Amino acid sequence: SRILENPRYDATLSALYGAATPGDPEAVFRAATSAIAAFEGTDSFAPFDSKYDRYLRGEAQLTDEEELGRILFFSQQFTNCNLCHQLRKSAIAADETFTDYSYHNIGVPANAAARAVNGAAGPDLGLLANPAVEDPAAAGKFKVPTLRNVAVTGPYMHNGVFEDLRTVILFYNKYNSKAAARQINPETGEAWAAPEVPGTLSMDKLTTGPALDDERIDALVAFLETLTDSRYEYLLDRDTASAGTGGTDTDR
Ligand code: HEC
Repeated sequence: SRILENPRYDATLSALYGAATPGDPEAVFRAATSAIAAFEGTDSFAPFDSKYDRYLRGEAQLTDEEELGRILFFSQQFTNCNLCHQLRKSAIAADETFTDYSYHNIGVPANAAARAVNGAAGPDLGLLANPAVEDPAAAGKFKVPTLRNVAVTGPYMHNGVFEDLRTVILFYNKYNSKAAARQINPETGEAWAAPEVPGTLSMDKLTTGPALDDERIDALVAFLETLTDSRYEYLLDRDTASAGTGGTDTDR
């Protein structure tokens, strides 16, 4: 009914998909779903015109820092990012979506404040909260998100528990660093809070690779900023692009 209240939707959906009536919500839903899917298939929805895409086409040059971040991101040796955030076989595929669409529990802490505001009780079980899913191993898993436009779409994780992109990289680094300073969440000044759902973490992947020093952390952030569609580039805060605000090399 809400969709058909808009005379333009009513007329267009009827013209494209046959007369829709408020009495047939399934038909309206199917028509709207199909129309949205058609939009999602357009270049306007997914322009692939970020600095990274322009670089792949030879139309832009990455800075040394961005290039280091690119190498690290796709490396089998220095980071684990591509174990989950790479769809295509080739590291220079033009249509990389930066997710393999799998589900993982990476140990994100609860956002207690958000849960309270929403009146939500107990832990967020992620994939297992889907009534169609029964496997207890699905608890705490979330679909790997794309990293396109990630630099301009904070706060981060499904529950917005981290404000800064750099914090996300530091969060991953806690799994591989033994330095005491790396066990501190810079946004709270306290130790990283425990995973909201323990027991199902993808530890094998999360612990693949060595600890990252500040230079590499900043480079990864700089690389992720290049994944911003050109229409959103003005939103990038260039000042934070490479601000080495964390510890020193010895914190590695
Ligand atoms: C085991 C799979 C896995 C690995 C390895 C991994 N990620 Fe993720 N990543 C995820 C999942 C799943 C989420 C979503 C978690 C959530 O919302 O709770 C995520 C979320 C993110 C986000 C936040 C996205 C947003 O919009 O909130 C960023 C940024 C990110 N990952 C970057 C990286 C980088 C950089 C690396 C390598 C250092 C990496 N990831 C390694 C699975 C992984």
